[in-house]
Amino acid sequence: MKIFINKRIPEVGIKMLEDAGLEVIIPENPNLSHEEWLQYCKNADAILNVGQNKYEKDFFDQYPNIKAIALYSVGFDHVDIEEAIKRKIPVGNTPDVLSKATSDIAFLLMQSVARRTSYNFQKVKDDNWGDFDPLHALGQELYGKTLGIFGLGRIGFEMAEKCKKSFDMKIIYHNRSHNEEAEKELDARYVSFDELVEQSDVLSIHANFTEEQENLFDKSVFKKMKNDAIFINTARGGFHNQVDLYNALVNKEIWGAGLDVTNPEPILHDDPILELSTVCVLPHIGSATIEARNGMAKLAAENLIAFSKGEKMPHCANQEVYQ
Ligand code: DGY
Repeated sequence: MKIFINKRIPEVGIKMLEDAGLEVIIPENPNLSHEEWLQYCKNADAILNVGQNKYEKDFFDQYPNIKAIALYSVGFDHVDIEEAIKRKIPVGNTPDVLSKATSDIAFLLMQSVARRTSYNFQKVKDDNWGDFDPLHALGQELYGKTLGIFGLGRIGFEMAEKCKKSFDMKIIYHNRSHNEEAEKELDARYVSFDELVEQSDVLSIHANFTEEQENLFDKSVFKKMKNDAIFINTARGGFHNQVDLYNALVNKEIWGAGLDVTNPEPILHDDPILELSTVCVLPHIGSATIEARNGMAKLAAENLIAFSKGEKMPHCANQEVYQ
């Protein structure tokens, strides 16, 4: 079985695939054009996908040779899952192994925004250390404040736990369903979407993204938030309208924003949001640790090895294919 991997992943995953007797095809060039990428897809039986290549109806129609896709990501918003189910194509993903790393980034962004570290670091780099000033660019403390989690799954749980343990923050959340573990262990309280927006001092997004949620966090939502609230997005940039976010920050409807994902992504280099002192933006590095990336490589390889043996993928985003 031929596996096309569009970008080199940690060696541990490649070795697992090769040891299992699978043929691994990795292009020399990690930045394939769309046409080159399609050419590789044409000659493979399965794909280990790195990044946001889209798998939609047209793709599945044109490349019936592709029998399985193992994503090198936990998110699967770039795959039309219903179309994959119709064709019985399993789509693997990489849950759990990146929950710690990604929630670490959300936690870091929250503190970075609260203490304006990007702004202050830039001052140092600009040779503008400045005199001690009792009133300049003050931050805010997080102790005892309310953390609102939108989408309390594994990553949201880790973020909530860190905030509770470190800052004794109160946890509220909005989700499709109740998270009993979080309610029991973290005293997390389920609230409506509006209550989440209105009551959070820090609002952090940890949900799976779907198209219907495009721009869910827009001007009408930012208007309802507390004026000293911090907005954190480490999930998908599509969740927020970035122009509305900028306006909300400038108009002091909210206090700050920490983004590991942007809308659009990559962020435009002249996006004025980058100039604000209570903003910190990172280039989608949530899972970028050696541990998480090795873990992702292993899970993706496990998924394809199981598929090659005619077994169920152990980490499958569309279990329905097995029914
Ligand atoms: C994920 O795993 O979904 C990360 O956001 C990388 O795409």
